[in-house]
Formats: sequence, C-alpha cells, structure tokens
Amino acid sequence: MVKKDLDIGYDNCNTSNNESFENVLAKRMSRRDVMKMGAGFVGTALFGSFMAGCKDDSSTSPAASAALLGFSAVPKSTADTISVPTGYTSKVIFATGDPIKLGVSAYANDGTNTGDFDNRSGDDHDGMVYFGLKNDNSGYDATNSKNGLLCMNHEYINQTYLHTAAEVAAINPAARVAAQVDKEIASHGVAIIKVTDSGSGFAVDKSSGYNRRITGATPIALNGPARANVLVQTAYSTDATMTRGTLNNCAVGSTPWGTFLTCEENWAGYFKRDTRTGKEATAMSRYGVGTTSRYGWESVYPQFSASITGADATADYRHVANTQGYIVEIDPFSPTSTPIKRTAMGRFAHETASLGKVTVGKPVVFYMGDDAKGEYIYKFVSTQNWSAADANGGLSAGDKYLDSGTLYAAKFNADGTGTWLKIAITEPAIATYTTYAFADAGDVAINTRLAADAMGATKMDRPEWCGVHPTTGEGYMTLTNNSDRAKSGKYGLDAANPRYYTDTYGTSTTNKGNVNGHIIRWKETGGEGTATTFTWDIYLFGAQSDANGTSINISGLTADNDFSSPDGLWFSEATKGLMWIQTDDGAYTDVTNCMMLAAVPGSVGDGTANYSVTNTAVPTNGNADQTVTTFVGKDATASTLKRFLVGPKDCEITGIAETPDGKTIFVNIQHPGEEGTATALTSNWPAGGTSRPRSATVVITKNDGGVVGY
Ligand code: FEO
Ligand code: CA
Ligand code: CA
Ligand code: CA
Repeated sequence: MVKKDLDIGYDNCNTSNNESFENVLAKRMSRRDVMKMGAGFVGTALFGSFMAGCKDDSSTSPAASAALLGFSAVPKSTADTISVPTGYTSKVIFATGDPIKLGVSAYANDGTNTGDFDNRSGDDHDGMVYFGLKNDNSGYDATNSKNGLLCMNHEYINQTYLHTAAEVAAINPAARVAAQVDKEIASHGVAIIKVTDSGSGFAVDKSSGYNRRITGATPIALNGPARANVLVQTAYSTDATMTRGTLNNCAVGSTPWGTFLTCEENWAGYFKRDTRTGKEATAMSRYGVGTTSRYGWESVYPQFSASITGADATADYRHVANTQGYIVEIDPFSPTSTPIKRTAMGRFAHETASLGKVTVGKPVVFYMGDDAKGEYIYKFVSTQNWSAADANGGLSAGDKYLDSGTLYAAKFNADGTGTWLKIAITEPAIATYTTYAFADAGDVAINTRLAADAMGATKMDRPEWCGVHPTTGEGYMTLTNNSDRAKSGKYGLDAANPRYYTDTYGTSTTNKGNVNGHIIRWKETGGEGTATTFTWDIYLFGAQSDANGTSINISGLTADNDFSSPDGLWFSEATKGLMWIQTDDGAYTDVTNCMMLAAVPGSVGDGTANYSVTNTAVPTNGNADQTVTTFVGKDATASTLKRFLVGPKDCEITGIAETPDGKTIFVNIQHPGEEGTATALTSNWPAGGTSRPRSATVVITKNDGGVVGY
C-alpha cells in the first residue's frame, strides 16, 4: 500500500561466473520434489534437461525461437480498465468478498454482507504465491500448471466500500460498531484458495478443503528469539508464546520446503497506546505505534489497545504491538495448522522475504525490506545448512531453518561496495547502545530497527519487494520513493539514494525528493548468500520519459517503458530471468494509472561507474550535496524493459505468481477507485456499470497458449 502514501542478461546458461551446476539444480528442484524423486533421478533427468537448455534454449523453450519482450508495449492510460498486450487475455477470478466455500452467498458489493467474511475473499489483494497441487489433490506437485493453491495477502481495507454509505458516514473511531469491526478484521490477513484450469481457464474451486482464511484474529504462534520473552507477554498468552492475528500483510515469500511466507508491513497503525516512558517510549516511537489508531478497533476489542490498563503485562495488552511486525509462515497443505511468526527474521515493516539461491549443504538465505522512509534492507541467514531431505518438511522444516540464524542490515558504501552488518546482542555497538539498552536476544529481535540504527545501516528510499535472479543470484530491491530524502532536518543524499528533484503533477510542484523511486541490486562476494560484503549498482531509475535525462531519467526510459514508484518485483522461474515490476504510484497518475512492466536485467556493473547525478534546489539544511556520485546500470532499451499492463483507476498493481510452465500468470489489482466515495465512485472495476470497485486477482494468458512474456 498505498497510492496516497507518497509521503508515507537473460539467462545464457553460463554458470561459470558464480554459480555451480549443483546450485542451479538445487534451486530449480526446490521444495518437495527433490526428496520424492531421489538423488539418482534428479541427477539424470534434470541434468539432461538442464544441459539441453544450455546448448540451445530455443529448442526446449515452449516459446521456440521467440525472444522475451516480443509483445507490443501497452500505452500509458487513465482508462478504468485493464490493458494487456495484443495477443493476451485477462480474466478476473477472485474479487473482494467472493465466497471461498460452497454455501456462502454471492457478494452483494453494497456494504450489506455481514458475519461471514472469514469465508470470503479479504480486501486489498497483495503478494501471492502459486503452489502446484497433485491432480488427486493429495498434496504438493511442483510441476502442476493446471491445479494449484494460490496463497495471497489481503493487506488492508477500503472502509468506504466494505460498509453501506450510511454506516461509513456514521463511523466514530472512539465507539466502533462490533459487526463492522468484525468484518474489517476478517477482511485482513491471508487467503488460501484452490484454483483449477479444467480446460476453459482457471477458476476458484469452492469445494476444496484447502480453502482457508487467516485473519486479523487467527491464533498464531511466536517462535524464535522473542518466544516467551516478557516483551510479548499479553493477557491472551501469559507465557508469551502466542498472539492473535496477522495484519497489513504486504509482499510474500516461499520456502524450499513448500510453505508460504507472509510479511506484516504497516501494522503499527492498528494499535492505540497510552503515554509511556523510558525504553517503552523509545521503542514505540521508533515503530510508529501512536496514541491514535487507524480504525478504532480498540474501542471494541482490548487486544488492539497497547496501553497499560491492568496490574501487570499478564492482565492487559501493553505489549501487543510487539507481537506484530514479523514474517509469518503458513503451510498451505495443512489447513488446520497454526501459522508461526518467525521472530528470528526481525521485526519491522516487513515488505518481502525473497529466497536466495538454494544450495545443499549451505544456509538458506532470505532478503527482506523494511518499507518506511529511511529504513533498511535486511538479510537472514539460517544457522542450519540446507538438506534436500527437508524438502517436504512443512512447518517443522521452518522451525529448523527460520527459528535460528543471523540477521544482517545493509550498509551501502560510496565506492560501490557494501557490508552486511550483523544484528545481534553480541555486537558491541548493540550491547552498549545508549539510545536503547537491549536486555537480551529477544529484545533485539523485537526492536530490530533500533539495533540496526546502532550498527549504522544505510537509510533507504523505502525498501519494498526483493527478487533474486534465478541464475546470477543477484538481489534486486525496489525503493519506491521518498519525500523525506534530503528534506530539511532529515538525512541527506547518498550514493545508493542519489536523487532529489521537483516533479510537476498537473500544475502542482509540491512533489520533491526521490519522487519516482529506483531499483538497487547487489552481487554477493563470491556469489555466496552467506557473504558479509557485496558490490552494488542502481539497476533502474523510475522517471517520466520527458524528464531531464542526466539527473532524473538516468536510465533513458521512453514512452513505452517509463514508470514511477516501483513496488512489486518478481522473477519468473519458468522463463529463467524475466523480471516483473509493478507500481504503486501517486506521482505519475496525472498521466497514467499504475502498471506492470517486464524486464530482462543484466548484472551488477553492466553500466556506468562513478556516474555523477546533478540535483537541483536541494534544501541546504544539512543536505547541501547538489552532486552525488553513484553506480548505474545499463540504460533500458526496448528489448530489456517494456510496459505489459496498465490497471484501472486509482489502483495499485501488486502481487504476481505463475504456473510452473509459465503459461499463466496471476496478478493482483489492489484498491481500484481508492480516491472515490460510495456516492462518488472513481472506478467501477471490475464489474462495470455503477458497481462499487473491488480489489481482484486477474488471470493472464497468451492467446496462442505460449509462455507469458515472449
Ligand atoms: Fe504494502 Fe510497502 O507496500
Ligand atoms: Ca507501496
Ligand atoms: Ca510529473
Ligand atoms: Ca508493496
């Protein structure tokens, strides 16, 4: 979220550089199939297909001799519709309020549905993963492109469209109506739905026992260093091992053992606190837990009141905000399993959990972003080395790999190198930090931001999604925009966040800072996910194509690929290197609705070193650097970046998944018509007419049955 919050080489099979055949094989054979097939079968069958692909990719690719980005660019548009390239078709399959069970009524979409939202699609669809399902529905099948489980986030809600117009007009945050709060809580969280293509395209199978909602009220376990820590003790869980609910679930991840990871992003606003002192005040302020809440849920349910009301922490919810802000693991194949918050991966505004390359005998690595202005990029490295025997391990494998590990925060140096700073109580800078006296490892896991402050991590322009290139192993992370960068009294420009400029929106010139965002990437030293150093460059700068080509439109964007505010970023496995970029923009929306682009990135260092960005009118209060030297990737061209989709009015494009054959992609359209009201709609997508807008999952296929993106 959210568009209002502007303030808030294609694989050439050359594995010689930094990735062994074993690494590539392990990655492509990820999850449960490795164990099922056995080493002998893997060695012969996969080695054969892998080598065939290397000798002549076109002979084995479903797209034959076609090149990626062979489609015609979709023009920018402000139309209230979805536009995809000629030769492609899009279809809505799952919109806000749609039933996930048989016997649940069709969604009225007029605000009158009550009482059964945990049997319906949540609101504001976001990150998403497709897990193939065996044809007999008995479990995971990594290769099934016709039958699968879609796991998706429902990030937040649009109250305007969830309730009737009269109810919305009467909302009093100090005294909410319980039935409305119940609907709002149940519209958050995660949906797991079975989707099947029986010959006429994918549809939701409402009869499936896998279909499930996890909401803002679902019991969830707390594992890792914060488990049983006094700082997560509540009246609900006096032994500090459980909490209720996952909130503001944004981007996603998946594990080599077949589970889904959902990331808790802007959870702080769901809690209302009293005035606190000392360490508590420092911690709550650092995370933005405030004295007013976004929706007033605490007026109905005490677990949203992070205030001292009882005799001690076992009698109230003073610590409840410490139970949000984690990576949550869910096993989609075990519908009765309890989700688990993995506190070893740190607590912040989690946007993404992107799996690094997977190698037998080496740790499992995830890259994560903290999406707020000036926050950090993180890496988690498991203590345990990956064993293919765990490929079917579900949540117990999660216990093994995600409850113990090393967390790092990134420092980007001005010379194009970088360092992963260890976030642990054993680090002297953390152990002796004067701003906040950490008590133990659990305290560090809970107050990760403060520990990263102590280590001197680099303040970034709002880290959103990360993707790891399937063959090079390089990490790419979107930095969506930052209106604080170089603002008076804030932090200055630096090599990794080098732009400050003024954008014109209509006739307004109030958008300043890094208005359009950029995408940074890094190459781990030695190609190892466990490395503590890396090199980096800025892969791509968002900009409008008519902006200054030296200091704003640095990547040379054209009318066919210009964009603003990159957010979603995801690598297709089926195409071995196609990268999708999705936007959540409020800066270029005078010209175009949010969009999705397809890219074929190269690698770190393929552009210009020591590139000089000349900024203008940078505020002089401590941020006087007009010129910043940085490292930029090769300019975009028509064969490396092209607009694929433009969404309806006021939407954000976020969340993408593909079937293993790459012939179907699922894309989420979030909050169309967000700027409207029930009596003055700005969008009627997807149903048209005078209907209220709804977030929805769209299925996109190529009309010739080919792989998407060629
Ligand atoms: Fe939920 Fe940072 O986007
Ligand atoms: Ca965003
Ligand atoms: Ca503009
Ligand atoms: Ca996002």
